[in-house]
Amino acid sequence: LTRTIAEFREKTRELIEAQPLSGAEADTVRVGFVPTMGALHDGHGTLVRTARAANDVVAVSIFVNPLQFNDPVDYERYPRTLDADLELLGQAGADIVFAPEESEMYPDGDPLVKVTSGKLGEKFEGASRPGHFDGMLAVVSKLLHIAQPSLLTSRKVEFSAFFGQKDAQQLAIIRRMVLDLAYNVEIQAVPIVRSDRGLALSSRNQFLSEAEAEAALVLSRALFLLKSRADAHEPLNVEDAVALIDAEPLVELDYLEVVDPSTLEVIGVNCQDTPFTGQALALVAAKVGPVRLIDNMPLGS
Ligand code: PAJ
Repeated sequence: LTRTIAEFREKTRELIEAQPLSGAEADTVRVGFVPTMGALHDGHGTLVRTARAANDVVAVSIFVNPLQFNDPVDYERYPRTLDADLELLGQAGADIVFAPEESEMYPDGDPLVKVTSGKLGEKFEGASRPGHFDGMLAVVSKLLHIAQPSLLTSRKVEFSAFFGQKDAQQLAIIRRMVLDLAYNVEIQAVPIVRSDRGLALSSRNQFLSEAEAEAALVLSRALFLLKSRADAHEPLNVEDAVALIDAEPLVELDYLEVVDPSTLEVIGVNCQDTPFTGQALALVAAKVGPVRLIDNMPLGS
């Protein structure tokens, strides 16, 4: 566990330089990085195990980033479970954990200069959480520079960062930042991890009552309905999936849309008898009790 940027970089450098030198291609040290906000569950565990399988050195950050919470109450009550997190990370195979204090990441408070998420950050989650994605980019851009191994060593390195498909809009925006600003990192997406009954795992699920958790299953049911139609090249008839959710009184639907996976532009699939072809992403968000839940499903092969 490291707490400062300097200490994290020094330990990461040591781990990289401890990798054996065997000649030629094998000398490239692969560094995988998994940013998180802690309160870790098996979704995060899967990210770390995926990074472990493909890298020589695996670094994980835990930082509840105040800049991406537009609701101060949501920030205050966000679960903080460092001891359990470290246990899970040890089992999943992380080599090093970076868990800075807020004063380490933002010594002068709110940073003056920030990357903006532009149009991609204004729709869907951005529409109901103004500033969320710019706050998210502020920390992700900084973390990617903090963890960038080519700044630490003269060894040949490859740098990948792992993000969950769960936060599809976040992932699309990070990919766009890496592309637009030529970040030296490979972004790897990891599929959504769900409970046995289909609920996408989330650190906020613990705020759901039993009845709410049950009701929330309608979100993944609606998405799987669209997926089965897409797989069969049938018309999606998104309104059927909307009706399913509307029939659940504990769930207040915000949006259910089928979009282009990289531009997040809404795709016109609503016309009654157009068979589904191509690739798309179904996005859903809803309020269930005290919690806003998001989920999504890739459609098409
Ligand atoms: P957090 O919500 O802790 O999530 C950390 C990573 O775990 C994200 O990439 C997220 O998509 C992934 N993840 C969460 N639940 C998942 C699930 N059920 N299946 C697969 N992956 C899942 O996302 C953030 O933190 C922050 O915005 C962060 C990127 C760390 C910046 O502060």
